Amino acid sequence: MAKPVSFQEDILLLFTERDIHAMSKAFNLASYDDVKTHADAIYDRIRGIGGAVMPPPPPRGEGPWAQANVELFAQWMKDGFQP
Ligand code: HEM
Repeated sequence: MAKPVSFQEDILLLFTERDIHAMSKAFNLASYDDVKTHADAIYDRIRGIGGAVMPPPPPRGEGPWAQANVELFAQWMKDGFQP
């Protein structure tokens, strides 16, 4: 079986300093607990569900994510939110 997806090793690197700063009023994308708590909403928005796609396209952000990264986030959830 493949190694489970980990927040520290796989997910945290997907968020840029800009993302973390931009979203800091709502939640801390650098925090395992915050990303876990808001994972369903984050997973929707990185797919453009429920509002504008996150992160926004240039010049306001570097998004949207490559499909492989969206799938990595989904796998992190599926794997049970490994730290
Ligand atoms: C529940 C999930 C999220 C919600 C509801 C959300 C909502 C928002 C809202 C309302 C804004 C302001 C839009 C505006 O200025 O018109 C924003 C900006 C932004 N968000 Fe999110 N966001 C979410 C997740 C994310 C994630 C996961 C990322 C990065 C991977 C991200 C990156 C950004 C960036 C880079 C901006 C641009 C701020 C700027 O204009 O300087 N967001 N988001």
